[in-house]
Amino acid sequence: MQFDMREIAGVVKSAGALLFDTRAAGEITVKGRADFVTQVDLNLQERIKRELFRRYPAVQFMGEEQDNSGLDPAGAVWILDPVDGTTNLIHHYNQSAVSLGLYEKGVGLAGVIYQPFTDELFCAAKGCGAFLNGKPIRVSKTPTLAESLVAVGTNPYCKQAAPGNFAAFQRVFEACQDIRRSGSAALDLAYVACGRLDAYFEQNLKPWDYAAGMVLLKEAGGQVTDYEGKPPSLWKNSDLVAGNGKIEPELYRLLRKG
Ligand code: IPD
Ligand code: CA
Ligand code: CA
Repeated sequence: MQFDMREIAGVVKSAGALLFDTRAAGEITVKGRADFVTQVDLNLQERIKRELFRRYPAVQFMGEEQDNSGLDPAGAVWILDPVDGTTNLIHHYNQSAVSLGLYEKGVGLAGVIYQPFTDELFCAAKGCGAFLNGKPIRVSKTPTLAESLVAVGTNPYCKQAAPGNFAAFQRVFEACQDIRRSGSAALDLAYVACGRLDAYFEQNLKPWDYAAGMVLLKEAGGQVTDYEGKPPSLWKNSDLVAGNGKIEPELYRLLRKG
């Protein structure tokens, strides 16, 4: 399908300003254990959905804060996480992003991740490369896990997975330089794409957490798979390993040990 990358990035960036609405960020509804939605999440989703529909009426829309049943996997679809890092937003941690992917027949066409607190716009389109604020980005060249900085994700809404999860963190921590935990899967993926991190892994993510990041990583020379090395699903939850294409074999070995 035809799309205008600048236009899509513009829609995401201008909606991103809504993340500064502290009053709306304080209007919180509980979705589950440690899982919240704020009025900012809802406002952002509504605005981006409306803007995209006006420009691309034939493209379907998947968003975290709506019922996504009935989407046709064969058609084109926007996949939006209006606020990735809602817990960070509630705590004024200033580490949250808007994440929008575009897929057709399971193929990633475009990805945009915008972090308004640092004004960093990560963009990628299939076959055109990946960019941060207009400058090309690439994954790191770090050859071994021992020299790597690795982000972990805690799978925070599934506390019963903590023992296995934290055991994996320890194995990776002992094998790499150090680990990080940001609270935004989209930003973890964007940071791997631009080489600030060498890898990132987390269990049980949702398609909107990684739809944009997968396009970004591919275009930046990296890769994203599940813990088995297979492509993550766009239609159900998936475990995720993102890396620079060099250190994944070591990571898979450590993650599968549990
Ligand atoms: C969450 C963040 C977090 C990750 C969770 C995600 P949300 O997204 O990406 O870093 O650990 O698994 O669900 O709920 O803030 O959109
Ligand atoms: Ca998310
Ligand atoms: Ca979200």
